[in-house]
Amino acid sequence: MKNKLIIILAGLAVLILLSIKLLSSNILTKSQNVMKFELIQLPYAADALEPVISKQTIEFHHGKHLQAYVNNLNNLIQGTNFETANLETIVKESEGAIFNNAGQILNHNLYFLQFSPTGGGKPSGRLAQAIDAEWGSFENFQKEFEAGGMGVFGSGWVWLAADNAGKLSIQKEGPAGNPVTKGLKPLLTFDVWEHAYYLDFQNRRADHLNSLWKIVDWKVVESRY
Ligand SMILES: [Fe+2]
Repeated sequence: MKNKLIIILAGLAVLILLSIKLLSSNILTKSQNVMKFELIQLPYAADALEPVISKQTIEFHHGKHLQAYVNNLNNLIQGTNFETANLETIVKESEGAIFNNAGQILNHNLYFLQFSPTGGGKPSGRLAQAIDAEWGSFENFQKEFEAGGMGVFGSGWVWLAADNAGKLSIQKEGPAGNPVTKGLKPLLTFDVWEHAYYLDFQNRRADHLNSLWKIVDWKVVESRY
């Protein structure tokens, strides 16, 4: 009888210990997984956008610059209200270093995913109609968009954005700016930070912007509209 009691008590103790271990490992896993942003995978090879964007530029721009923003944000949000927020919410609601790094991730994700080695040409459907309605022609829109990129002083971004009614506009933004902070939907962006083009075009920003049309995947841009 005494032996049975000891066995039952020992069994209970083992069960309690196992439960505690399981619970603590779950908590640990959860806290380790809390909003760890990850570097996006590119849907093309690093050299696939050549000669518009070289392999070397992609490797630095995506592999070093964007990776650094991801690492920075993951460190910065630890222990803050943004630990469980999604990227767009962080960009809309944060400021300072958190905003700068979150903005860079959101912007670069939209930037890299809008390109394709088989890109180029013109948009179609509803987006093409909206561009014509706003700028008269696709060619005129391209001209205005490039001028927008040239008009950004220093590092920044030029965007094609849409409001809730679908009306399009060109938005010039600073270093980490994104039209979501103005309640607009970002559709297309050209990164005018020098890191985006200096290895390939040096100071010729205009030539870089003009060449980017060759790799824009309009199906992706249309799907954002
Ligand atoms: Fe960039």
